[in-house]
Amino acid sequence: MRTQVGIVGAGPAGLLLAQMLHQRGIDAVVLEARSRAHVESRIRAGLLEQGAVETMDEAGVAGRLHRDGLVHHGLQLRFGGQGHRVDLSGLTGGKVVTIYGQQEAVKDMIAIRLAAGLPLHFEVDDVAVHDIATARPRITWRQDGQDRALDCDVIAGCDGFHGICRPSIPPAALTVFDRAYPFAWLGILSRSPPMSEELVYARHADGFALATMRSRSVSRLYLQCAPDEDLSAWSDDRIWSALRRRLGDTLEEGPILQKGVTAMRSFVAEPMRHGRLFLAGDAAHIVPPTGAKGMNLAIADVRVLVCALEAFFAGRGEALMDAYSATCLDRVWKVQRFSWWMTQLLHRYDDHDAFEERVRMAELDYLAGSTAALTTLAENYVGLPYAV
Ligand code: FAD
Ligand code: PHB
Repeated sequence: MRTQVGIVGAGPAGLLLAQMLHQRGIDAVVLEARSRAHVESRIRAGLLEQGAVETMDEAGVAGRLHRDGLVHHGLQLRFGGQGHRVDLSGLTGGKVVTIYGQQEAVKDMIAIRLAAGLPLHFEVDDVAVHDIATARPRITWRQDGQDRALDCDVIAGCDGFHGICRPSIPPAALTVFDRAYPFAWLGILSRSPPMSEELVYARHADGFALATMRSRSVSRLYLQCAPDEDLSAWSDDRIWSALRRRLGDTLEEGPILQKGVTAMRSFVAEPMRHGRLFLAGDAAHIVPPTGAKGMNLAIADVRVLVCALEAFFAGRGEALMDAYSATCLDRVWKVQRFSWWMTQLLHRYDDHDAFEERVRMAELDYLAGSTAALTTLAENYVGLPYAV
């Protein structure tokens, strides 16, 4: 078998890339380790920047997103027991963010690809990439008990943080930047109406909490916990009382549909390309979820990669492919900075450095009262302008 672009991973990055290449007449084969049911039910991100929605629109995959997504013009910061509204639209010349579950976007893109009869293989085992430093890279895998191989012009490593593509690059060719945080998030999905129309980010003496949503009747709530938190120690009652203390008594309770613990990490691998292997999304970088940026950054990478591959396959040379990593990393580091900043500002640190605590409180207080500071937050939150 052969194709122009072999794509490893059917998450938001791999599926969007496949669709945007298809629009430009470039062939791709997508290989996914897990089952369709698994990737369609994996509950993760929920917040899309304005540019991410526009990108999905241009890609022709935003039909249901526009019907079911919830458009937000602002958010609330809560500290010292009080809420402070951040007018995202007012501060950014009318920009908005949209709540739409990542797994819903994944479902939409899978359905569109399969309906068009385009190649997307689930439950593939032992995926490996070969000859990535040559002009004829190859992917091998096992499927239905048989060994398979795919010759490609280019391989896109869209296989997430735990995938095989990044580790296939010789370690000496990569520089890794890594930071683990001394806390995690316990997240629940609950059948209960959102506590407010907009997201609430709360800093509290007990720790951070976030009230977000998936629909008008389903809430998504997170609370700061220990990195090695034992979920079985958290009864539903304990979760609700911790959330109410941090977010306020107006929080309505409901049956908990799902719960899990998410570790928090900042990570970047540079460069995002080795020969004909291009990394995109979580395969190259991850951010703590406080800034709601992971999926958005994956989409931004894909835009840059599509431009570079379009030029390459149209015979316009490799200049944009050569620029891919630097172009992406420019945004990646700005987004890393924002995600780190939101995280350290809103979380409780148990080492309790009293000086830093006071500085954080002063920064929040300054933020709430300064249009300049709020504008900085707002323009990062709705999404910085794209390079391409
Ligand atoms: P992934 O979604 O990880 O997709 C990679 C795919 O590759 C997976 O389907 C995986 O099964 C597959 N794969 C792995 N290994 C192989 C292999 N060897 N062979 C074949 N396939 C393989 N981001 C936001 O933008 N906004 C948010 O609000 C937000 N909130 C979040 C909340 C939580 C609790 C979490 C955990 C994450 C959140 N994120 C958020 C981050 C976001 O979910 C990720 O950044 C996003 O999934 C990245 O997409 P991706 O396609 O790069 O990687
Ligand atoms: C979500 O809706 O899951 C979500 C929203 C904002 C974040 C993180 C997660 O910062």
